[in-house]
Amino acid sequence: EKGNYPHFMLKEIFEQPETVENAIRGRLDHEMASAILSGIGLSPRELLQIGHIVIAGCGSSMHAGLVGEYYFEDLAGISTSVEQAAEFRYRNPIIEPNTLVIPISQSGETADTIAAVREAAAKGAIVTALCNVVGSTIAREAGRGIYLHAGPEISVASTKAFLSQVVVLLLFALLLGRNRRLSRSRGAELVAEIEQIPDLIREVLEQALEIKKIASRYAHVDDFFFIGRGCLYPTALEGALKLKEISYIHAEGYHAAELKHGPISLLDEKHPVMALANDIPGRDKILGNIQECRARKAPVVAIATRGDRAIRDLTQDVIEIPPCSRFVAPLPTAVALQLFAYYIAAERGCEIDQPRNLAKSVTVE
Ligand code: F6R
Repeated sequence: EKGNYPHFMLKEIFEQPETVENAIRGRLDHEMASAILSGIGLSPRELLQIGHIVIAGCGSSMHAGLVGEYYFEDLAGISTSVEQAAEFRYRNPIIEPNTLVIPISQSGETADTIAAVREAAAKGAIVTALCNVVGSTIAREAGRGIYLHAGPEISVASTKAFLSQVVVLLLFALLLGRNRRLSRSRGAELVAEIEQIPDLIREVLEQALEIKKIASRYAHVDDFFFIGRGCLYPTALEGALKLKEISYIHAEGYHAAELKHGPISLLDEKHPVMALANDIPGRDKILGNIQECRARKAPVVAIATRGDRAIRDLTQDVIEIPPCSRFVAPLPTAVALQLFAYYIAAERGCEIDQPRNLAKSVTVE
């Protein structure tokens, strides 16, 4: 039931401190400064043999995978690629020996992701799935995996499942990293950062009214660009997807460096830009991108680390995020983007929980 919330989407956004806690519970190993993920069914030796990771998914689940790519490469030093599941299934992909394929799916019933699991298994990959729905087709067929424990997600637009996917990918990368080159002290730092995530999300939720106010100034627009770098690049893709699917505003996510390679020609006062400018590596470059947007009169909403004065000098519409490391930054940032999309859609009177033409799980290709 929706309780006091007007929509399931808002309820699910506000549940996220708890759903993320559920995704983490029992999975941190303080002693070893690592993670415990028994469902993956791989011994430390088998983990050590993994030479390459392929993540397959669709929509928001693919975006979570794109965040995961940074984690696996940076923390575990394992080369990782992320595939749209339909592309993976039809491209006759090359699966090197010792490849781990990670299908990601909230529902566990997405047709293309199911087909990707079958393709991967047929080609001899080790398959470990990330699913939310217990006993779903992907969870069963993969045979091993990690459940998200986000509880039923009713809103068609994914929110809490996306966050749990990102958290579980971070836990998995921590485990693989500690199994290899990641030092104990770096592992301990990450454990502490992961434990902080629910509070970071709470701090963003406390600003819902402020985000609503900013959103109301943009509810009339027809187009929106979202830009980010590093882990915040896939976060920008996810923010744009959230906005377009529930508000019907045309929204595009871009790597900030791509602006100059085309989309900047569109920028003017009618093309606002959401810039993910948290204080993590790349922030100075984003500052430059914001200046480029402002020079073309594009209104800019910035997500910034609390107290970042330089950004306030460039735009009045700033959504503040508590300070956090670059690996956890996608989580509170995604929550701010969910609220932003939600309040715009609400102001436009959209059918938020059931956007037109969309189904909760895409069981046909
Ligand atoms: C977006 C959204 C979709 C799903 C996609 C995959 O908000 O919900 O893009 O993420 O259809 O669904 P699952 O994760 O069930 O495979």
